[in-house]
Parts: sequence; C-alpha cells; structure tokens
Amino acid sequence: MHKSRFVSGVALLALSASGCGMAAAAPERGLMVPAEPTLIDFVDPATVVGLSTETLTDDDPGSRYVHINYPEFAGATALNRALRAQAERQLKDFRDRTESADPVTPRPELNVDWQLAAASSKAVAVRLRTGEYLHESWGNSTRTYWYDPREGKAVDSTGLLAGEPALRRLAVLVKAELRDRGPQADRVTAEGDTFDSMAFNRDGDLVVEFDDCQLGPCSLGRLAVAVRAARVEPLLSPLGRRAQESVRESAGGAAADEVPHFTPTRSPDAVSNRAGSVDCARAKCVALTFDDGPGPDTGRLLDLLAKERARATFFVLGSNAAAQPALLRRMSEEGHLVGNHSWDHKDLSKQGSSKIADSLDRTKDVVSAVIGQTPTLVRPPYGAVSRQLRNVTRNMGSSLVNWDVDAKDRHGGTARDIAGRTVREARPGAIILMHDIRRETVDAVPDILKQLRGKGYSFVTVAELYGSAGMQAGRLYESGNGLPRRQPLT
Ligand code: NI
Repeated sequence: MHKSRFVSGVALLALSASGCGMAAAAPERGLMVPAEPTLIDFVDPATVVGLSTETLTDDDPGSRYVHINYPEFAGATALNRALRAQAERQLKDFRDRTESADPVTPRPELNVDWQLAAASSKAVAVRLRTGEYLHESWGNSTRTYWYDPREGKAVDSTGLLAGEPALRRLAVLVKAELRDRGPQADRVTAEGDTFDSMAFNRDGDLVVEFDDCQLGPCSLGRLAVAVRAARVEPLLSPLGRRAQESVRESAGGAAADEVPHFTPTRSPDAVSNRAGSVDCARAKCVALTFDDGPGPDTGRLLDLLAKERARATFFVLGSNAAAQPALLRRMSEEGHLVGNHSWDHKDLSKQGSSKIADSLDRTKDVVSAVIGQTPTLVRPPYGAVSRQLRNVTRNMGSSLVNWDVDAKDRHGGTARDIAGRTVREARPGAIILMHDIRRETVDAVPDILKQLRGKGYSFVTVAELYGSAGMQAGRLYESGNGLPRRQPLT
C-alpha cells in the first residue's frame, strides 16, 4: 500500500529547473545551446510527493563538526534503509579517522548534502555529495543510489549495469574517453568504488563521476565522463534501461503541466499570532529559534506553536527548504519568522567570501520564492563567525543571530532534559537555540511553553525582540538582554 502511494506520488513529477547553475529545462529543446555533456539535470525535490528530509549529527560536539542530510521517501523502504545505512557508515568512518586527534582549529568537518538525479515511477536516484574538511582542505566525493519503485529495490550505481562483464566494458569505454586528458585513464579499474556515482544526462548518455583525487591530482576539480547513449545501452540492466528512459522523458518535458500545487493546512488559531503585537521593551519576551529544518517533526511543531499562539524563528537550511516548501509557507502564514541557516550547514567561517555568498544567496532565493519575503536574519552554522561572513552579510543587508541560551538538543538528550534546561536558563530577552529536526525537541515544546508562560513570558520572533530599535546589517546579535528597557508609561 505504501509502495503504490509512492509510485502514484512520483507519477506527479515534472522536471523543473536544476540547481548549481546546471542547464535548465526549456520548453523548446531545439533552441537550446547544447549542455556540457557531463552535467546532470537535477529534479526539483519540491515536485516529489511524499519526500521529507533526515539529518544525522554527531553526539560528541567536542572535536568535529558533522551534518549529514539525506532524503526520505514515503513507502520506498529499501531506498530509505540504504541511505540511512550509508549516512551511519560515513559518520562512523569519519569518527574513527578523527577520534584520536588532538583538538585542532579549524575543526575537521563532515558535510553531506543530496540531489535527485531522477524521480519518476520508473526510477529514483539520490546523489549524495560529501564534503570532508581534514588537514585544512576540503575533499569532495559523490555517490549515487538508484531505486526501482516497481520492484521496491535499491541498488548502488553499478546496479544500472548488466553485471560484471558490462562493468568491465564500461571501464574500457571510460578509459578511452579519458585518454586524451592525461595519465588518470590508467587508474580506472572495474572494481571498488570507482563507479559508485553514475546518472544520465538529458540525452541519455551515462555520466560517470569521480571523487576528488580518485584518479589524479586533487587540483583537477570535478572529473566526470559522459559515455554516449548508443554505446552504453547494450551494457544496461533492466533498471538501467528504465532509468535512462525516465531521465530522457523528463528532459523532454513529459508531465510538465502536472506540477502539484501545495495547499498547506492551516490551523484556525494561527491567524491570531500576529507579529508586532508585543512590545518587548515592556513585556518579558523570549525568542525561541529552531535550526536545521524543516524536518519530519516540523509540521507537528507548527501545530503545537499555533495551539499555544506562540511565535518562533526558524533558521532553515536551503536544501531542506527547497524540498519541503509547504512547511516553509506554513511558517510564514502562521506568523513565524523564517531566517537563513545556509544551504547545507557547512561551517561558513572556513569559507571564502564567494562560497559564503553562494550558500546564503541560494537559500535566500529559495525562501523568497516560496514565501514572497526575503529573509534578513542569518544564523551561522555551528555559530561560527568570521570577518568575511560579517562582510558578506553586511553587503546582503542581513544581520547575524546567535543565541545566549542553548537547549543543547543537537547532541541528544530527552524531552525532559531539554525542557528543564531551557526553562531554567531562560531570562527576559533570551534567544534560545533549539533544533526542529529532533523529535525530542518538539516533544519538549509543550512543557517549555507552559512553564515559561506561567512565568509571564511572551514568545516572539528574533526581530520582534529588538522591536523599533531594529537590527543592523552585518552586526552579530546574541541576546536581547542588552537592550535599553523603557519604563512603563505612567
Ligand atoms: Ni545548525
């Protein structure tokens, strides 16, 4: 039953513009400039029904930064299981490799983000993109999982091929393609992880991607090869053929007029949560902030906040927001403030200005497109701030927001711990850090609201905390405590 729901869900797909500056779908293909053959047209995740996102972080916050994000599909159990297992493997492997090291600055970091290389009732492909920061440099790798909705089967990329002989033949074709580009061709072998990331371009050519430093010097950048459709066809497995067909059909604009329209459900109470109705210079206010979402429990959190007429600030990841626009729309419609928490949760203080701007701009564009309002508050991932980050946010007209009360929910803890700590540490003007990607956090919210309301607190957005004093671009805010408090009018 779940499976059919998923299949009918993906049948509603349409190909839409791709991220990362890759070739966008255009109505008349004859007019298009041919795309670079190794580029993949990614499917807009917002068009996939039944998709949500999961996050895995490290329980030990001490020595490293970890943020692993991957999609989850209603009913696609085998694919969900494969993605979860891969996330856990990568976390464990990274932990093992960084465990004994003395604390270093900047910290080692593991970041995994994802894209959809296909999504239809014929085939689904999730491309996991891993960034690892070790020894003061980034290494990037990709791995693509394929799913057959008909069979309910998940395979790694070699599952696109008809067995070992096809893999060996593909290795020969890839070597031939690479021969003119230098000595890296010699390092292609038909084994191991060499062929762990494969997908099709719009013409049905097979795009084989290699990790940084896998075949040659790390300075090469992205190395990928496109093997022409006609040459690769005889090598494909039945799933491989359906996958190729699916990507070609999407590129041809099949089902283009079937983009589902989201109709977010609204709580009737929500309308009374009007922003600006509390003057925090006089009232006791706290700003609850929820980071890293939207996630699987965000809808439930919105229900809880609406019921208690409490407003909050959501610092969303662009990658999650793009996949679940209906939740974003709910946040905005129900009186909450949506802020920018970067695209994929990489530590921005390690990045140069252009990468910082790219991560924040992409997220800003998604949020503005969905809610019709430009986010002006930025919460830096891990709270890490650099001079470049301040400059970029100043130029964007945005302020930086950290916190003065940490619910410490990112690294585990029961709902009871989270509620207890938050209530104990809250004070007038506090900015409270929480994460709506954690079930325990959302479980703690009713208790937090009840107890703090009992102490006379109002729940406002971060911008409301500063009220008419306003917030300045490029400045870092960590608490509303230092604000001049006005005497009540007599
Ligand atoms: Ni975060």
